[in-house]
Amino acid sequence: MNQNSKGLAVLGVTVVLATGGTIAGRSDCADDHVGYVAGQLAVADLMAAVPGLTGLPMEGDQVAQIDSKDMSLPVWQTLVRRLVHHLARPEVGSVVITHGTDTLEETAYLLHVLLQPNKPVVLTCAMRPVTALMADGPQNLSDAVAMARHPGASGVLVVCAGEVHTGLDVNKVHSYRLDAFDAGDAGALGAMEAGQLRLFRAFPVSAAPSLAGAQRLEKFLSTVALPRVVLLTSHADADGDMVRALLALPAERPLRGIVVAGTGNGSVNQTLEAALVEAQAGGVRVVRTTRCARGTVLPRPGHPLPEISGLSPVKARLALALELLAG
Ligand code: SIN
Repeated sequence: MNQNSKGLAVLGVTVVLATGGTIAGRSDCADDHVGYVAGQLAVADLMAAVPGLTGLPMEGDQVAQIDSKDMSLPVWQTLVRRLVHHLARPEVGSVVITHGTDTLEETAYLLHVLLQPNKPVVLTCAMRPVTALMADGPQNLSDAVAMARHPGASGVLVVCAGEVHTGLDVNKVHSYRLDAFDAGDAGALGAMEAGQLRLFRAFPVSAAPSLAGAQRLEKFLSTVALPRVVLLTSHADADGDMVRALLALPAERPLRGIVVAGTGNGSVNQTLEAALVEAQAGGVRVVRTTRCARGTVLPRPGHPLPEISGLSPVKARLALALELLAG
């Protein structure tokens, strides 16, 4: 990282990597907040809609143009490649990623695990399309760029509705409201107020480059498919049939792992649990997390299924897939 004499990050160029989402969405009707098409506006147009960006050293790079519900391994690989390329450029000080809200937390977590960058990588989004009467995308992009250019910022961050979260902690918690994200018990990292960051706690610490990290990244970029890890939820009146059906999947891409979003402290319906224990005995990695929006799973001595603590079910699924990929 370039530093000035006080050890603060030099601002440099901010690259905007665009992937689609509602922030680039359009509708024919200004009061349409749900029937619009995501991923329509090009990165140059997104940037042009924010007058405050004029005059800043900025570049745009269109990585994809998708609704993030359709995020896939190939798009992630392209995004990670472009990110690695730009972060390695000495003149680049920060990267902003525009992304759909629906799987933003998965991409943020993936980038956090794979890259732990010492330059800031700030994901942002919108809950209303560009054509809405109160489009939130331009303000979010403006805040994300201000966040990215804040001296000393580092790590994977998320900016939405004036709140700053870490990629590790952020979750989408509301299906419609503009402030759709929170960071659970960890709380927000900071707030963007009139273009200024008010920081509540320290930025994520970047991991020192390591051989294991480089190998994990290389494996992620070169694989044609992530190990198959399926997410199941424990609920009232659950049974083990789905687990048995999964075990019968074709051998070309066999089931490697199951994450079960348990009730409360990661408890699992007894019939489902019996099937999961069978799967585990057959070589499938099974881990428990909680379907609760807040809290973690505290270890329970003697439980036949290990817990994975501090991650939401979708992040736990990704964590297990990456662990299995690393081998
Ligand atoms: C998407 O996730 O791409 C669509 C929904 C959104 O961005 O809010």
